[in-house]
Amino acid sequence: MTTVIAIVSQKGGVGKSSFARALAREAAVSGVRVKIADLDTQQGTSVDWHRRRLHNGIEPVLSVEAFSTAGRALASIDQLDLLVIDGPARTSKATLEIARAADLVVQPTGASADDLRPAVREFHALTKAQIPNSKLVFVLMRTGTDAEEGAARDFLSEAGYTILDGSIPERPAYRRAQDAGYAVTETPYATLNKKADVLIQLLIDRIT
Ligand SMILES: Nc1ncnc2c1ncn2[C@@H]1O[C@H](COP(=O)(O)OP(=O)(O)OP(=O)(O)O)[C@@H](O)[C@H]1O
Ligand SMILES: [Mg+2]
Repeated sequence: MTTVIAIVSQKGGVGKSSFARALAREAAVSGVRVKIADLDTQQGTSVDWHRRRLHNGIEPVLSVEAFSTAGRALASIDQLDLLVIDGPARTSKATLEIARAADLVVQPTGASADDLRPAVREFHALTKAQIPNSKLVFVLMRTGTDAEEGAARDFLSEAGYTILDGSIPERPAYRRAQDAGYAVTETPYATLNKKADVLIQLLIDRIT
């Protein structure tokens, strides 16, 4: 049985690809047979990142492939324990198709009202389209202070959704790591790696 975890959001730049990569990396080191399906065919950012990773000889070697649709990605999950879908921004139609295909739909969001409101609208739209609430999970990304994180958490839980404990803060070191082909759990800083890994392990625990 292959578990499909989709990372989606209509907003751009909230951290979908960052989260997808770290999830795949940590799953792989736990012995999970995993592939990232990069559905952002316009940007192909996870495919590019994977190329940088290969170029820099970073272990473990991951599997990353571009697909035009969720359906096509699903047709290639033989011998996989986990398919991580890195979703494209700015599309509601593809997001629904991806959500239908997924066992779990993870939506990263920032903590500002500008991020939170469309994020909630997106999950409301999926709920209206019969995606069960139990499949929908928020993850707080690029947060600043604890107070900001707490207020965002309250807003999302009042809207009726599950939010993963913890958050990945905004740090240049996360960007630099990814620029060099590393995941946000592979920076040179143990505390930053740990902060990201805590969130990722909560998802890995659900599938192993
Ligand atoms: N916690 C963080 N701290 C600092 N920079 C971050 C963090 N998370 C992501 N970034 C950076 O922000 C940018 C956008 O992140 P990412 O590509 O993961 O978002 P995305 O949601 O996949 O974007 P898109 O909608 O364009 O696909 C990247 O340059 C990434 O390195
Ligand atoms: Mg992306």
